[in-house]
Amino acid sequence: MEFEKVVESRRSVRDYDTAKKISDGQLKKLFELVKMTPSGYNMQHWEFIVVRNPERKEKLSDAAKSQRHVREASAVVIALGSKDLLPRAGMIADDRIKKGSMDEARKAVYLSNIKNASQDTLKMWAIQNTSLAVMTLVLAAKNMGISSCIIGAFDIEKVRKEFRIPQEYEIVLLVTLGYDDAKPSPEQGMRFGFNEIVHLEEFGKKP
Ligand SMILES: Cc1cc2nc3c(=O)[nH]c(=O)nc-3n(C[C@H](O)[C@H](O)[C@H](O)COP(=O)(O)O)c2cc1C
Repeated sequence: MEFEKVVESRRSVRDYDTAKKISDGQLKKLFELVKMTPSGYNMQHWEFIVVRNPERKEKLSDAAKSQRHVREASAVVIALGSKDLLPRAGMIADDRIKKGSMDEARKAVYLSNIKNASQDTLKMWAIQNTSLAVMTLVLAAKNMGISSCIIGAFDIEKVRKEFRIPQEYEIVLLVTLGYDDAKPSPEQGMRFGFNEIVHLEEFGKKP
């Protein structure tokens, strides 16, 4: 599908055909695109739990204000952002050294910036980068004919406990994935336009 069409036709879908499943092959294809998402320091500190088991989806729905689409989607993705960055950072730096775009001195600065990051900063990075990965997931899904809905309304601690998610991970968002049932796609919600969302050069200067 053309990029503009993917972006313009995506909707949050909350009515799924419960008989149509998402295969392992489709998941693989989706996450091969998700991995291309940009991230600060190229940290890629996102991880995803894919939930397809009906009982587990029920538990997720319970933790998400009983939202029906969380229960009925073919798969629900729990998007996590790690705050334990050093293991990844070392590997990324070594790869860059091998490819000639980093030297040992810059590696030391890179690692020390990460080591010295505050908990607030680590949390912000986890949310920033994982949210971008979620956007890639949603658009890649649309491109493959798979509908989705991002879910932000859930009880973090319930999800953490039920899915045994360690404390060093922020639980950023859930994403339902599945096939639209036969109903027409939901109407597009109103959108604020160019003049409303863009300032030129400084705040308050409107196009
Ligand atoms: C961060 C975030 C949290 C959201 N949380 C929920 C949610 O908990 N339940 C839900 O049904 N939709 C949720 N949505 C979907 C929004 O309601 C939806 O994206 C918005 O109304 C625009 O509609 P559209 O996605 O169809 O264009 C969320 C979307 C985002 C980006």
